[in-house]
Amino acid sequence: MADFAVLHSPACTAIWEVSASEAPLWRYWGPRLPDGVVPDTGLRETRPEPSFSLHHDQPLSLFPGFGMAWFGQSALLAHRAGMASAFDPGECRIERNGAHALSFRLDDRVARIMVEIRASLDPATDVLTLSASLENRGDGALDVQWLAAGCLPLPEDAETVHSFAGRHNHEFVPVADALSRSLWRRENRRGLTSHDCFPGAIVTCGDGTAYGAQLAWSGNHAQTIEWLDDGRRQWQAGEWLAPGEVRLEPGERMAGPEWLATVSSEGINGVSHAFHRALRARIAWPGGAMRPRPVHLNTWEGFYFAHDEAALRELAEAAAALGVERFVLDDGWFAGRDDDKSSLGDWRADPRKYPQGLGPLARHVTALGMEFGLWVEPEMISRDSDLYRAHPDWALHIPGRPLLEARNQLVLDLARPEVGAWLFEVLAGLLADTPIAYLKWDHNRDLAHAGEPARHRRQVLAVYGLLDRLRAAFPSVEIEACAGGGGRIDAGIAARTHRFWTSDCIDAVSRVAMQRGFLRFLPPEIMGCHIGASPAHATGRQQAMAFRCGVALPGHFGVELDARHLDATDRETLAAGIARYKALRDRLHGTRVWQGEAPDGLVWQAHGSEAAMVLLVTRTDATSQRHQPHLRLPMAQPGRSYTITADDRVLATMDGAWLARAGFALPPMAAETVLVCEVIS
Ligand code: GLA
Repeated sequence: MADFAVLHSPACTAIWEVSASEAPLWRYWGPRLPDGVVPDTGLRETRPEPSFSLHHDQPLSLFPGFGMAWFGQSALLAHRAGMASAFDPGECRIERNGAHALSFRLDDRVARIMVEIRASLDPATDVLTLSASLENRGDGALDVQWLAAGCLPLPEDAETVHSFAGRHNHEFVPVADALSRSLWRRENRRGLTSHDCFPGAIVTCGDGTAYGAQLAWSGNHAQTIEWLDDGRRQWQAGEWLAPGEVRLEPGERMAGPEWLATVSSEGINGVSHAFHRALRARIAWPGGAMRPRPVHLNTWEGFYFAHDEAALRELAEAAAALGVERFVLDDGWFAGRDDDKSSLGDWRADPRKYPQGLGPLARHVTALGMEFGLWVEPEMISRDSDLYRAHPDWALHIPGRPLLEARNQLVLDLARPEVGAWLFEVLAGLLADTPIAYLKWDHNRDLAHAGEPARHRRQVLAVYGLLDRLRAAFPSVEIEACAGGGGRIDAGIAARTHRFWTSDCIDAVSRVAMQRGFLRFLPPEIMGCHIGASPAHATGRQQAMAFRCGVALPGHFGVELDARHLDATDRETLAAGIARYKALRDRLHGTRVWQGEAPDGLVWQAHGSEAAMVLLVTRTDATSQRHQPHLRLPMAQPGRSYTITADDRVLATMDGAWLARAGFALPPMAAETVLVCEVIS
């Protein structure tokens, strides 16, 4: 009789067939099974030997090996100068760490490699976290090419994989690929998470079940989905490693990133719900709990590099009058920084612009009742900077090759201890000298080159270490992760920061789809959403203030325009938008989010609970129908009476069954409008 290891959460179950002599075999990963339900036979007993097959049957395990009867993608690719490339652990030691976590120590005494897989299924979030670490127990150096966080099985009816592509100014472009017998693979080699390849995906199945997974890592990554001989598929994810990037000396160990996975019989919205809960559990808020997300004013698009202290004081006054709660001084404040050609690394206030330093402006802001925040781009160095003149070797480079610049800047080799130590001192000095409550931490280029041997991985670990050190030293400071907008959005850096700058494009029409993509994986309270000027700087499109406010409403709301020069109507609309955000933020954030599409080009999202929701319906294009479509809310509960109001006007009252199946008639909506409703039972 086979033995099984089982993990349950309220909505999910994972079952492995385990023995002391091999990696655990995947038997089930799917919606919750009743307690005690396990397979009645060992998997191999159900698999008679097919023609042209090895006599040893190797089904899918949690960590598929290489070279010993497994012909699919391997979870480990490593070798010692060509030797020890086969991986087939003959020993598996299982440890239970409480009711919800297991570790599997897979020992291959021939290859002299030990892999430990940790698996935990959190009952509070329905997220299974997998991670792998590897130890070189041999005599020679072990070159590692691939170490997956583990492997997940997908059922036979897995149909479509939904992932996200994009670019700067256009993050979260949805991509839906039909799964076939071809290998599906997404890779990112840009050195940071990237705008063009979010490290996660959602797979939808014929029966409506959805499987999601995302890698908690801010560097290179790869994920694959592969059809298997038994009709299932295997899904792997891990760091993409450059040739020679990881060489483990005898006794050395490497730990790969965590991979967060979930499954929901409620489809994609169920997957997002689990991810939101898991991300919320990862974020370390100052004081231990999220406080209402303060309204931002960010100076970038309103001022760019043209910092004038008197004008910025006026801006702060205008912002405070509108109801802004945090004033973030963006790029342009430090020594010699008049454009993007110089000064990264010279992190001291420009005496021409701030003769007394940043203190007076910061104190003016705090005296107006707002927090003061500051933009920094710590990982970078401009060639035209005092720092570069003093330490040209601190930039990542490959000796003998030209320096490749992007936005006129190079990347600091953060893993060098003297560079990391210097940077910590500089940032700590800034935080200690000025009342800075918030850092916007930017990263405006890809990592090419990243040294030789490649230092992508070391760079990510070094920035994590730096953030951890700063957080420990300044626990009340919140940090925003930005990389030219959304170039570093992932669950790894989310554990060390408090907000993402979703995109440099704040055109409200463009933002609709981007924000919907973001919300598939991450919760709204960390999604930076600003009201920009009209025309939008990124696209040149003009949009009404009310529409801009409506699109920004569900996220972490902010203003990014010169608020001194608004006409009276826009000022009034913006102040009302801010007031509405403040009134609703407790219900928009920290609660469940559903997203859906309605007929006639409408999209909607609801935040709250099945009993009471804030509903946002967005129309970007004009209607093509004479009569308005009906909007159905599938989560509405039969037997409850729901009242739907917009601006205190009752639109409809109906039973939840009717709301879920037939829906309510939407009022006429012009192009580029957001209807904000309350749905209360
Ligand atoms: C990046 C950010 C912007 C802004 C600029 C400043 O592009 O995404 O929000 O901070 O840098 O240079």
